[in-house]
Amino acid sequence: MKIAVISGDGIGSEIIAQGKKVLRTVAHKYNFDFEYEDVLLGGSAFDKKGTPLPEETVEICKNSEAVLLGAVGGPKWDNLPGNLRPESGLLGMRKALGVFANLRPAILFPELVGSSNLKPEVLGRGLDIMIVRELIGGAYFGEKGTVNIKGGQKAWDTIAYTSFEIDRIARKSFEIARKRNKRLTLVDKANVLESSKLWRKTVRKISDEYKDVEVSYMYVDNAAMQLIRDPKQFDVILTENMFGDILSDEASMLTGSLGMLPSASVRGDSFGLYEPVHGSAPDIAGQNKANPIGTIMSIAMMLKYSFNMTTAAEDIKNAVSQVLGGGYRTVDIAEKDTEVIGTEEMGELICKYM
Ligand code: IPM
Ligand code: MG
Repeated sequence: MKIAVISGDGIGSEIIAQGKKVLRTVAHKYNFDFEYEDVLLGGSAFDKKGTPLPEETVEICKNSEAVLLGAVGGPKWDNLPGNLRPESGLLGMRKALGVFANLRPAILFPELVGSSNLKPEVLGRGLDIMIVRELIGGAYFGEKGTVNIKGGQKAWDTIAYTSFEIDRIARKSFEIARKRNKRLTLVDKANVLESSKLWRKTVRKISDEYKDVEVSYMYVDNAAMQLIRDPKQFDVILTENMFGDILSDEASMLTGSLGMLPSASVRGDSFGLYEPVHGSAPDIAGQNKANPIGTIMSIAMMLKYSFNMTTAAEDIKNAVSQVLGGGYRTVDIAEKDTEVIGTEEMGELICKYM
């Protein structure tokens, strides 16, 4: 199994180091061999190669069966022109790999109910929402620009989607909903945006083929509110790129911390790009404070989606659950006055419980 590994910037190398430990533990336990290749992306790639997305990185990732990614970005590169920023390396990589469907499961471990900012009665036990975010279209990839105008400047970004782009991710989402609680909510802004109207029209058409799935439509502003008011009403949320970016950060807090959320970016075959939802957290980088669970749960998704190793994936999830049940917490999920462990200790404990 060939995996390209991108540590990236900030806390990336610390969380990926724990991820590699978990992979080694899986390999040992199930007698598999993983082959890693470390590649550069983002700010560290810019520093060493002068570009946030070196060609050889793309090549190596394309020739792998899966890609594991930490996080990119940081204040050091904030003043570079847009196309040289670490974020553009990440977006370019997703595009080059064609991974259009970004699956972001917001799962609340019952052990963490107390770490969420919401009241336990709102969360219940076992919150489980799947956000499906379109990943390689919309505003982040549309035509954009900045020009000088009289007395100032003008800048624009465009959200454009074809019915084909919507169709393929909608089908993927219906398939996912079918294997879950059979409810799908399309989140859009169809009361204002043309592109959202096309999303609705396309999803409506496809829904005829998935009569067993109950579809609802919700405006994004309302969805942002409903996620906090009554998150349990959601099963699968399907949405375009920017709305998904925003709502997935919001949903992560339901689960206790942004540090908990994994993601898988897929395209329909077994290939996938796996990364935690959180960013590079430069403020805590190098301090052994970052929560590696988002990365470790991303590896569980990799084992499940790319390598069809469901048991190993479950193993990881159970180990995380047990470690949390044992009261072990990184700082982001610790309640007041409880003892805190570091990134490395968390990684090691999860391996031990596996
Ligand atoms: C994410 C991140 C990225 C995105 C940034 C770093 C470009 O916020 O994965 O959600 O917007 O997709
Ligand atoms: Mg984001």
